Amino acid sequence: MIERDDTQQLPGDDRLRDAADAYDGDIATPVEFELNGKPAATVVASNSTLLDVLRGEYGERGVRASCERGVCGACTVLVDDVPVASCSTFAFEVDGAHVETVAGLAAADGALSAPQRAFAECGGYQCGYCTSGMLMLTTGLLRRHPQPDRATIREWISSNTCRCTGYEMILESVERAAQLSSNRAAEATSGEGAR
Ligand code: FES
Ligand code: FES
Repeated sequence: MIERDDTQQLPGDDRLRDAADAYDGDIATPVEFELNGKPAATVVASNSTLLDVLRGEYGERGVRASCERGVCGACTVLVDDVPVASCSTFAFEVDGAHVETVAGLAAADGALSAPQRAFAECGGYQCGYCTSGMLMLTTGLLRRHPQPDRATIREWISSNTCRCTGYEMILESVERAAQLSSNRAAEATSGEGAR
């Protein structure tokens, strides 16, 4: 649960007040969550999806809208480390949660995350429409299974649809992401040991 200092002005507070002023009688719920490491607050209608809120209110256009039925995975984001279809998640459900999108994957200095670098290296995308969902899925997979075997990767990737690549290069990209991620962890550990 995110702890909040009530005296602190959050980035979403003005928006929350505006939304409350505009409230027209529909059931609305205040929601506070963390978006890519920053506090966020808004008021959502009971039927607003997380996809609508992320794209519409927070400008997160990297979160793709495609089937909007929970089938293709293009809209995948992480909620408390778990990949979810944001089109099939009510916005009120993320109250108190940590939400991560593709916009938060790269480091502050622009360094790509292991999945981003791996997909670029291995050509794991063509048109790119599915790619942000695939990257979030891969990020969630590697947090749960840092060294996944091919069967595990296939099982996870089967939740997301790619209409271009034929999947082989996506599988290779996920394997490469695991390798890069493990290399980075080893480098970080040896760096700590040298201090
Ligand atoms: S757009 Fe959400 S699963 Fe297809
Ligand atoms: S790269 Fe085009 S849908 Fe996957």
